[in-house]
Amino acid sequence: MILLSIETSCDETAISILEGEQDSPLIFSVLSHKVLSQVELHREFGGVFPAVAKREHAKALPGLLAVCLKEAGLLDERKIERSLSEEKIEHLRELFSKETLLLDPLLIFFSSINKPKIDAIAVTSGPGLPPALWVGITFTQALSHIWNIPLYEVNHIEGHVISALLKKKNKKMYEMQDIEYPSLALIVSGGHTELVRVSEGRSYEIIGETKDDAIGEAFDKVARLLGLPYPGGPEVSKLAERARRGHKVPRKSFVLPRPMIYTKDLHFSMSGLKTSVLTKVKALKEGELDEIAKEELCLEFENAVTDVLYVKTKQAIYESRAKNLLFGGGVSANLHIRDMLSGLAKEESVGLYLPERDLTGDNALMIGACGLFMIQQGAQPHEEIVAKGTWRLRDL
Ligand code: KG4
Ligand code: ZN
Repeated sequence: MILLSIETSCDETAISILEGEQDSPLIFSVLSHKVLSQVELHREFGGVFPAVAKREHAKALPGLLAVCLKEAGLLDERKIERSLSEEKIEHLRELFSKETLLLDPLLIFFSSINKPKIDAIAVTSGPGLPPALWVGITFTQALSHIWNIPLYEVNHIEGHVISALLKKKNKKMYEMQDIEYPSLALIVSGGHTELVRVSEGRSYEIIGETKDDAIGEAFDKVARLLGLPYPGGPEVSKLAERARRGHKVPRKSFVLPRPMIYTKDLHFSMSGLKTSVLTKVKALKEGELDEIAKEELCLEFENAVTDVLYVKTKQAIYESRAKNLLFGGGVSANLHIRDMLSGLAKEESVGLYLPERDLTGDNALMIGACGLFMIQQGAQPHEEIVAKGTWRLRDL
C-alpha cells in the first residue's frame, strides 16, 4: 500500500510518501519525505503567527507535492488534454471557499498530472493551529475527491507517540517496534506536555499534563527573554550545554524553582518558571546579562525542567505500571533530557524508545506511519474532516 501523508498543524509544511505492508510488525519504505520549515518567516514575530503559517502552507503544498511525487517515481507529467469536468471544478470551488489562495494552483496541478498510484491519504486534523490545519485538510480533501482515494485523519500527538517506535532498518526503511503494554508516552512539544498511558491497540489516556505553558513553549519564551532566536529550545539547550561543560567557577549562581515537583500528582506548570527567569534578568544591573550569565540561566532553566520531568515521569511509570517509556515531540531532541530519561529507564527497568533525532520535530513521516498503523488496525476512512485545534488523545 502506498500512502501519502500531509502535516500542516503548525509552522512546518511536510509531505511523505510511504510504501508499507499490511503485515505486523509494520515495516515501510520511504519513497519521499520532505519538511519545508517556515521558521525564518516566524522569527521576526518571535513565535508562530497563524495567518502567516496558513498563507505559507497554501503557497507551498501543490509544488511540494509535485516534488515528492517525482521523487517517489509517481509523477505522471503527461499533459492531459481534457481538464477537470465542470462538476469537479464546482466541487473544488465550494471546498476552497475559505482557502481561495489554494484554488488556482490546484486547478493547474490537477489538469497537468494524471492520478498517481496512491492507495490512501493521511492528514493531520488536530491538535494545532486551526487556520494551518484547515489548509492541509482542504488540500487532502480535494486530492481524495478528485482522485478517489480514501482519506484518514491523524492526531498529531499520536504521530509523535508512533515516532518513538520507528526504528530505522536502513536509509529508506523503518520498522514500527512491537512493544509490551501498558506503556507510558511522554510527549513534550511547543504546544503540549503530556504523560499518556498507552494500552494495547490504540488506547490512550492522558494521566498528566501542563496547567499552563507547554515545556517547548517555556523554552521558546526563555529564549526570547534572553534575546535568543526562535525556536528557542535548541538555542537554550546549546547555551546550557556550554555552561555545563565550561564554567568551572560559576559567576552567577542562579537558582530557579522546580514547579509542582512535590505535588504528588502528574501535572506540570511552567509559566512560573518562565516568570522566575524574567525576575532574575530584571534583577541584573546593566551589562550583567552577558554571555556567561545567559549560559548559566539556560543551564539552570534546563536543569529545572529536567528535574521536574524526572520526578513526574518516574511517578507516572509507577502509576501506569508501564513496561516501556516512549518520548516524543519537538523537545525530545534535547540531549540532556534524553540522557536523564535513559538513566530513569535503567533505574526503573523499563524499555526506552526515543525517536530518531530527525523525526523529533514536526514531520509527515510520523503522520504517514500512524496512518499505516491505523489502517493495519482496521480504521475506516473519514468522510467529514474538520480542524480540531484542541483534539485530546484518548481511545482512538
Ligand atoms: O513538536 P514540535 O516540533 O512542534 C509542536 O508540535 O509544537 O515542537 C517544537 C518545540 C519548540 O518549542 C522548540 O523550541 C522545541 O520543540 N525544541 C526543543 C529542542 N528542539 C526543539 N526544546 C528543547 N531542546 C531542544 N533541543
Ligand atoms: Zn509536534
